[in-house]
Amino acid sequence: MYRFLYWLVLRRLPAEGTHRVAFAMLRALVALPGLARLLQHLLAPNDPALAVRAFGHALPGPLGLAAGFDKDAKGVRALLALGFGFVEIGTVTAEAQPGNPKPRMFRLPRDRALINRMGFNNDGAVAAAHRLAHRGAGAVGVNIGKTKRVAEADAIADFTASAQRLAPLADYLVVNVSSPNTPGLRDLQAVDKLRPLLAAVRAACDLASPLRKVPLLVKIAPDLADADIDAVADLALELALDGIIATNTTIARTGLATPGDTVAALGAGGLSGPPVRDRALEVLRRLRARVGTRVTLVAVGGIETGDDAWQRIRAGATLVQAYTGFIYGGPAWPHKVHRELAAKLRAARLTSIEQAIGADA
Ligand SMILES: Cc1cc2nc3c(=O)[nH]c(=O)nc-3n(C[C@H](O)[C@H](O)[C@H](O)COP(=O)(O)O)c2cc1C
Repeated sequence: MYRFLYWLVLRRLPAEGTHRVAFAMLRALVALPGLARLLQHLLAPNDPALAVRAFGHALPGPLGLAAGFDKDAKGVRALLALGFGFVEIGTVTAEAQPGNPKPRMFRLPRDRALINRMGFNNDGAVAAAHRLAHRGAGAVGVNIGKTKRVAEADAIADFTASAQRLAPLADYLVVNVSSPNTPGLRDLQAVDKLRPLLAAVRAACDLASPLRKVPLLVKIAPDLADADIDAVADLALELALDGIIATNTTIARTGLATPGDTVAALGAGGLSGPPVRDRALEVLRRLRARVGTRVTLVAVGGIETGDDAWQRIRAGATLVQAYTGFIYGGPAWPHKVHRELAAKLRAARLTSIEQAIGADA
């Protein structure tokens, strides 16, 4: 039904507006008495074989919603009710900011892909902290980035301001240095810049949350050269990071069915969905070969089906995430992927998804 509605109506509407309206409707629906519980009952992963432990939490399933969909933690309860095992909110910046001028989000239906140059539009760390303080049960990761107007020289102070506010409310915290839409941000992936940044964020988390060590992760771009991926992996080991999220969107425009002039006319931005799948898997495999089981890996980029999720888990991911697959798949999509994953498990005669992690590595 969602596919029919999508082809009939949704694909003709502006992408960002559709997202805003659909998300608002979902939140309104879930606010109706009893409905969140009903959806949860129908859609939440309740097969014990799908349960997975990560970052000190028992998650009901390994598929989570990637950062960018719920930038301001407005709909965590509703998104969990659709069947995601966890939700990553953000990217949140220390200061509220409007993001780039619209239009800034585009569909490429022939590739089931998106291009976005949102530019971290968000209400800022204080507002996100307020909403997170009032959220209900369920695992929530918090993804932080740099405020656009802050110079690169002051980036560390900007990140630590967000970390201090948000770490106490996060089940895990992600340092996002990989979005292509904030000028200079991706330069922070170079290890000589990343080392002091991550060390400072670690210290800020420990100061803000002295009794509970908040798991700290870094999210990287698929466009990094292989040597740089290895360098980030080594740094993660050196700093005893808890996890790496691979990957963000790509600035590449290769392998698209959409005509080149149509793509070029959309302008700059990060490409997501199936076109990023192969590279995201390659990066994951490279990370696993380097860090083994010492750092938890979270796979994201082009995951559309239970097969895709299964492949990432077998390649070494403890958790998987998606954004674009959810946009094209609709509200029942997370439930469907978890169901397909459970079928994969049974076919492989495994009793727990944890037994599959890294099976192909
Ligand atoms: C419209 C849009 C906005 C995004 N915003 C963010 C963001 O704020 N922070 C972030 O770390 N990733 C962001 N992402 C990247 C996704 O979290 C994900 O890493 C990427 O899209 C690849 O996964 P996918 O192919 O499943 O979409 C965004 C992606 C899209 C499509």
